Amino acid sequence: MTRASAIYRNPYLYQALMRALYGPYYEARYRAVAVEIPEETEVVELCAGDCRLYLKHLRSKRVRYVALDNARPLVDWARRHGVDAREFDVARDPIPQADVVLMQASLYQFLPDVEPVIERMLDAARQRVVIAEPVRNLTQTLPAGIVRWARKLTQPAGDSRYRGERFDAETLQSLFERFDCKRSFAIPGGRERVGVFEGRA
Ligand SMILES: C[S@@+](CC[C@H](N)C(=O)[O-])C[C@H]1O[C@@H](n2cnc3c(N)ncnc32)[C@H](O)[C@@H]1O
Repeated sequence: MTRASAIYRNPYLYQALMRALYGPYYEARYRAVAVEIPEETEVVELCAGDCRLYLKHLRSKRVRYVALDNARPLVDWARRHGVDAREFDVARDPIPQADVVLMQASLYQFLPDVEPVIERMLDAARQRVVIAEPVRNLTQTLPAGIVRWARKLTQPAGDSRYRGERFDAETLQSLFERFDCKRSFAIPGGRERVGVFEGRA
């Protein structure tokens, strides 16, 4: 099991950072994804973090939800909040089948090898895959020193291929199109784009 990067070892620090990062659009980013998840479906979320999407926006839709993440502190935190959260490495572990397989703000962590991850998500999804991914990020707006510090905090421990790369709107859209994306749109504030794909399972 890969060790979690520094920022994901403390759920409270992680939540504070996410709030700071998304500012007034913090809750809207979850709402934009939640509307793509039909009621009473089976949902698997990869890299689920603190499971806020489920706790605040999906639980009321009566979905059967499984959260997968490799950060033990976040998994433990989610379990304490009543979530079926499991320790899981997206790079290695087989993705369980579900009606909807989703990933939010996490695909960049698998650059440059994101295509096999999407293939496996599509193979695991009976109805659809939903991917939300940042296209405007701190690396484009903050001083270089702070960017280096942020990269260090989010560096997946033990993964020597990770270079802190990110998508922009064009590279993400062209990736989405290679996988026959049915629909894509920007979340309020424009920081992330969402792609919706047809599942193959
Ligand atoms: C930027 S956070 C996004 C969390 C959540 N999806 C959200 O949008 O709020 C990235 C998440 O990916 C998880 N992660 C990183 N590498 C992973 C891996 N190889 N397998 C599973 N989870 C991973 C981290 O622990 C963290 O929770």
